[in-house]
Amino acid sequence: QRPLRVALLGAGVVGGAVARLLTEHASDMAARVGAPLEIVGIAVRRAGRDRSDLGIDPRLFTTDADDLVTRADVVVEVIGGIEPARSLILSAMKHGASVVTANKALLAEDGPALYAAAAEHGVDLYYEAAVAGAIPLLRPLRESLAGDDVTKVLGIVNGTTNYVLDKMDTTGAGFADAVEQAQALGYAEADPTADVEGFDAAAKAAILASLAFHTRVSGADVYREGITEVTAADVAAAREMDSVVKLLAICERTEAGVSVRVHPAMIPRSHPLAGVREAFNAVFVEADAAGQLMFYGRGAGGDPTASAVLGDLVAVARHRVGGGLGPGESSYADLPVLTMGDA
Ligand code: HSE
Repeated sequence: QRPLRVALLGAGVVGGAVARLLTEHASDMAARVGAPLEIVGIAVRRAGRDRSDLGIDPRLFTTDADDLVTRADVVVEVIGGIEPARSLILSAMKHGASVVTANKALLAEDGPALYAAAAEHGVDLYYEAAVAGAIPLLRPLRESLAGDDVTKVLGIVNGTTNYVLDKMDTTGAGFADAVEQAQALGYAEADPTADVEGFDAAAKAAILASLAFHTRVSGADVYREGITEVTAADVAAAREMDSVVKLLAICERTEAGVSVRVHPAMIPRSHPLAGVREAFNAVFVEADAAGQLMFYGRGAGGDPTASAVLGDLVAVARHRVGGGLGPGESSYADLPVLTMGDA
């Protein structure tokens, strides 16, 4: 099989992890896809930064993303933000590349246009990493539950604010102190607005609602209230009532329509969502026939997000190659199968 050409846009926390893991797992992924995946370039904003930590040939780095997207079979976009990400994705599709992206802001703002472009050019668009990092959630909504009727998606989809609220609960810290701690640990960005004001969660809620309810919800349609007004006294009062404050994303479908909102809520400590600590995410899904489902895991960070990106990359690549391999045909085919007696 000829190698599939992979172009990576962005080499930040997520892009760096994608590049490193793609290199480390190259032979296993080739076996799973049925063809080697070859990184043909990594677009970065500035040339010359030392990226020897990634184990990548330095000649692959380029500042010319416009050119890079024209010579790939799959483009992985992990720059984030609306532009230049949108133009690069549209150009990639126009040149016949499938796209894997982690860009929740862009999907929440312009998802339908990206889908239309993918359909027009006959390419795939996958974005598991855009919501809840490592947690497989979008594929289950888009594929596994496509024959069911999802009525509700509810959960914690922002790791930074969960970390802040958890610190306020466990240490009695005020909002500003807890944000500082989150920044010191690298959870919160230098400018934490998108997280603490709920924009990040609202974008994710819009994506979840669109997939769950087969409709079009944009970030601007989501009722949004962040956690900046939550005080140490609020958290203490919740504690008195054996409850915790969490920033929830709530997507519901009723006879009357679809409602999507993000706001802080008090939940009893006995509720499973109350046990979601630090920067973890958790999401409940309710569907007519399936009943209740629960998803839990790491919603942020380089490696967890890269895991979702690489899963999408394998899916897209398998589609290109025409199927991929079944279980038992991978590079692990020689692994001995242990029985109870051997363990
Ligand atoms: N800022 C996001 C969070 C990162 O804290 O959850 C993942 O989208």
